[in-house]
Amino acid sequence: MTDPSRKSHWETVYTTKGENEVSWFQENPSPSLELIDLAGPTPASAIVDIGGGASRLVDGLVARGFKRVTVLDISEAALDAAKARLGERASQVEWIVADVTKWHPAQAFDIWHDRAAFHFLTDAADRSAYVARMKQAVKPGGHVIIGTFALDGPEKCSGLPVNRYDAASLAGELGEGLELVDSRRHDHSTPWNSAQRFQFCIFRRTA
Ligand SMILES: C[S@@+](CC[C@H](N)C(=O)[O-])C[C@H]1O[C@@H](n2cnc3c(N)ncnc32)[C@H](O)[C@@H]1O
Repeated sequence: MTDPSRKSHWETVYTTKGENEVSWFQENPSPSLELIDLAGPTPASAIVDIGGGASRLVDGLVARGFKRVTVLDISEAALDAAKARLGERASQVEWIVADVTKWHPAQAFDIWHDRAAFHFLTDAADRSAYVARMKQAVKPGGHVIIGTFALDGPEKCSGLPVNRYDAASLAGELGEGLELVDSRRHDHSTPWNSAQRFQFCIFRRTA
């Protein structure tokens, strides 16, 4: 997918569909919050949600008292929806409109979280650009949490093809310097009650 069509795809999604009209809508992002807890963060931990879209994860992080939360997404409309929902609390969050494969992180993070963005990178060059940025951005000893469709999950999302992973293939894709801490499968129930099999992994950055 070319860069302009990637961005316009996601802007169209978020300007034409309501929060619970997309398959990935999750009332309570508990699988992500459980893995963030596993990383042992403090209120001062810097946490970035990559491809965070309009997800409610940011609401949960702000409610838990995290002071350095960043949400990055290619779609400005997605972030606008999240900001509108948060109201005054939106000012406690840093919002970045960027394609993660082109982004130049200006700060280091303790936790990198991504639910259902990495799996859209079906092009090897995009995946290696993503991994390079992640390794640049995450502190040694920091954690990387990635949720993707599992090997028996859907082959497409939002009409786009995805790559599916288990813990071993995701670890292989991320390469050296990341140690697998935990992995778990999660059955996401879409707003229309179909099941989507996800694979969540948490890695520790060792170097
Ligand atoms: C399936 S949605 C998941 C959204 C959110 N993580 C959640 O759990 O609700 C995928 C998100 O990734 C974003 N995205 C896709 N490709 C991206 C890229 N290259 N850089 C940044 N964000 C991207 C989309 O705009 C969309 O918000």
